[in-house]
Amino acid sequence: MSDRKILVTSALPYANGPIHLGHLVEYIQTDIWVRFQKQRGEQCYFVCADDTHGTPIMLKADRDGITPEALIAQVGKEHLADFTEFGVAFDNYHSTHSEENKIFSSLIYTRLRDAGHISSRTITQAFDPVKNMFLPDRFIKGDCPKCGATEQYGDGCEVCGATYSPTELKNAVSAISGEKPIEKDSLHYFFNLADFTDMLTDWTRAGHLQPEVRNKLAEWLDGGLQQWDISRDAPYFGFEIPDAPGKYFYVWLDAPIGYMASFQNLCTKQGINFEEYWAKDSTTELYHFIGKDIIYFHALFWPAMLNGAQFRTPTAIFAHGFLTVNGEKMSKSRGTFITARTYLDHLNPEYLRYYFAAKLSAGVDDIDLNFEDFTQRVNSDLVGKVVNIASRCSGFINKRFANTLSTQCSEAALFQEFVDANTTIAAFYEGREFGKAMREIMALADKANQYIDEKKPWLVAKQENQDAELHDICSVGINLFRLLAAYLKPVIPALATEAELFLNIESQAWPVSTQPLLAHQVNDFKPLMTRVDTDKIALIVEASKENLEKTASIPPVEVKEKRFEPIADTIDFNDFAKLDLRIAKIIKAEAIEGSDKLLNLTVDIGDELRTIFAGIKSAYAPEDLEGKLTLVIANLAPRKMRFGTSEGMVLAAGPGDKEIWILSPEEGAVAGMRVK
Ligand code: 2FM
Ligand code: ZN
Repeated sequence: MSDRKILVTSALPYANGPIHLGHLVEYIQTDIWVRFQKQRGEQCYFVCADDTHGTPIMLKADRDGITPEALIAQVGKEHLADFTEFGVAFDNYHSTHSEENKIFSSLIYTRLRDAGHISSRTITQAFDPVKNMFLPDRFIKGDCPKCGATEQYGDGCEVCGATYSPTELKNAVSAISGEKPIEKDSLHYFFNLADFTDMLTDWTRAGHLQPEVRNKLAEWLDGGLQQWDISRDAPYFGFEIPDAPGKYFYVWLDAPIGYMASFQNLCTKQGINFEEYWAKDSTTELYHFIGKDIIYFHALFWPAMLNGAQFRTPTAIFAHGFLTVNGEKMSKSRGTFITARTYLDHLNPEYLRYYFAAKLSAGVDDIDLNFEDFTQRVNSDLVGKVVNIASRCSGFINKRFANTLSTQCSEAALFQEFVDANTTIAAFYEGREFGKAMREIMALADKANQYIDEKKPWLVAKQENQDAELHDICSVGINLFRLLAAYLKPVIPALATEAELFLNIESQAWPVSTQPLLAHQVNDFKPLMTRVDTDKIALIVEASKENLEKTASIPPVEVKEKRFEPIADTIDFNDFAKLDLRIAKIIKAEAIEGSDKLLNLTVDIGDELRTIFAGIKSAYAPEDLEGKLTLVIANLAPRKMRFGTSEGMVLAAGPGDKEIWILSPEEGAVAGMRVK
């Protein structure tokens, strides 16, 4: 097709738990995109690996009475089996606990160190005197300092949402031994992220990120970049830092390097030129598909590490939203925390691939798996529309024409319309607008069914001397079905392969100039997909509740490593009602030295004046703002920023840059008015 050379990754799943449907959104999204590229004839490699290091994995192995190596070998096998059965076709699936990863981690670290980007200092941390180990925040339990809720973890309260440091927890104990932690000093190594502020400011604006992600990054950059602690003390399952015995790389340092390691492993096996993909001046394309909760690592740390170590940076980061089930967070007690294996035990994986595709867009919105909608969509679209075309036509082709298609295409224009649609559908796939691609394909399926409805082959079949007509109608139907199967191939590859078998054709490339099959022998038709059996869904939910019982007494070692603030989670009405929204008058606006985004605003919120830093400098000169009205969140906790404390938040709307709008006096009402 062209000479694109593409390397694609999905985030590396932790080797301490099973793959679940939440994970699968990402792997299915990436796999569809990769399959699409390959079908178009592009050279595209898809690599991944298990993310094997860190405290949770070490402790889980300990609890299971096996070595971490044995644990990750076992989990790695299970992960790969799950992915494979879901049709996720990696070109390579590796492990971060590999020789390649060790080499690259050391190399990147040493290059960063030699360039002056690593520093070290002593920090004080909670230490478990029984287990003889430092405790990550998530492994300290106690009472919330704000609301008093018991059994809260060291990094935040799940009851009132407060975030705090573990030293603030009341009655703190180690979640591993139950012992009261002591404080202990230790030398840590830090990556000086702030050295890359300029590089990252440019990079995050240069089209590598989705617009909503770019805005989030601008906020983080404005808030100032902190040093990143990249070392952990023994005992730790990971790689020892080359010049620091007893210190290990924090799992998040070597995890993204695992992308390179897995690719290197593939290069060795297949004789691919690694340098061509990773050298600083590489012209190949590199894409990371990730969840929105790990943007910080991929859009700040990772490009900075690569840049500082003289490697290329990613072409783009594609972040997606979280999965909810029936409108709520996946829940073990509701049976909606469904593992890939439990799903596979009961339902066809291609149902889920199609459903996710139908719901996915290029944005970071969460997607909801609603079981009724799932059943209805799969039954109506795949079974009722697509497969139905083939089953409606194949019977006549088989019984009356010995499985041979007509020698002519009686609907050349219709066939051509289906072929021409390839451009639009391809653009949607390329832009990760899979939902739009599915709607386009289903509109074609509707057209094909409409054609058959109008031609009524079942009546024609009963008339005398109408064989040629019947033959033509059914052959058109089969030829249209063939194009639909080609368009759906990235999403439902198994069904598409079955369709190719029935059609007796080679594996279908992307149909840019496909000609109809004429006088072509097809094979006997077998039902390609059955309707979703709703009883099976009930079984899945039941089985997922049972999984819970089995794991209920196990301590929380499956927790994830600490994450950063995700983008745009949904809030319920109670959260919304907590906002004290006011129309405020901007009394004074000033530029801030050293910030090219922020303005320092003094606003009148009705009963007091507040100082608020607002990232609207790109749209407004300070003098244009004075006297204007704006919407303000008045009860936002004050936030310390590089330039002082911000005492609220100004709300403005618009796509960004020059287009950010706040109210002008005529549009608003009186300063201090409350918004109801
Ligand atoms: O969030 C996670 O599940 C991590 N294991 C993802 C790592 S992605 C990459 F950086 F390795
Ligand atoms: Zn609390």
